[in-house]
Amino acid sequence: MALPSPLASGRDAEVFALDEHRVLRRYRYFCDTAPEAAAMEHAAAHGFPVPEVHRAEGSELEMERLYGPTMLDASLDGQITPEEASRVLAELHERLHALPPRPGGAGGRLLHMDLHPGNVVLTPKGPVVIDWTNARDGDPDLDLALTALLLALIGESGPPPLARLAAACLEPYAGHVKGDPTRLVDEVVALRADDPNLTEEEVALLPRAADLVRRARAARTRPEDGSTEVDAPPARG
Ligand SMILES: Nc1ncnc2c1ncn2[C@@H]1O[C@H](COP(=O)(O)OP(=O)(O)O)[C@@H](O)[C@H]1O
Ligand SMILES: [Mg+2]
Repeated sequence: MALPSPLASGRDAEVFALDEHRVLRRYRYFCDTAPEAAAMEHAAAHGFPVPEVHRAEGSELEMERLYGPTMLDASLDGQITPEEASRVLAELHERLHALPPRPGGAGGRLLHMDLHPGNVVLTPKGPVVIDWTNARDGDPDLDLALTALLLALIGESGPPPLARLAAACLEPYAGHVKGDPTRLVDEVVALRADDPNLTEEEVALLPRAADLVRRARAARTRPEDGSTEVDAPPARG
């Protein structure tokens, strides 16, 4: 099939517009998109905002075409503040983790495992989550830890505008989430450390990033009542 030039081109996949309603996401190597499509279909069946899947065959996934900027671009353009973007991420996670477990999911919840502002498209109907490659079933805190860790890592080592944005999102995200982004952060570090795509420098940064996640969470959580709001103003007089 002759394809137009890609809408987007990443390390693992390219995304082509097929027509005004559909895009094709095609991996650069052979892989099975069926698990990714199944995760998206489960989410869609329970009202979670994902693109509708039209076809999943081998390395190809055909889906509904979305319109709107990614939350990353909208944040870099100043259309949405880091505080708002963090709240959207936390709310999407909360909604996702509230879906009924999948049959065969061993009691875990459906996790996205790569939720960051670049994987959220701000459509006229609201935020929609893309890029379900890493979706799996498990403990929701794992998903929260991964997002927090990604924000910390980019905040430490990303190019300046991105690093500033990620760093500004970490604390609000850690405060807005319903679960605990620190409880399984070491597990996520171990998973990431096994990723062959990471450079030695990136692996070396993981413990510091995990520490930043713990600090961000501590800064947003008052020990007395577990509230995630900032401290009350000092009493007068
Ligand atoms: N359903 C879609 N409709 C419109 N554009 C899409 C859609 N899915 C992906 N894209 C575009 O492709 C880009 C990369 O998609 P994504 O699935 O996140 O792949 P990756 O991050 O692996 O490159 C997105 O930022 C977006 O611009
Ligand atoms: Mg992506």
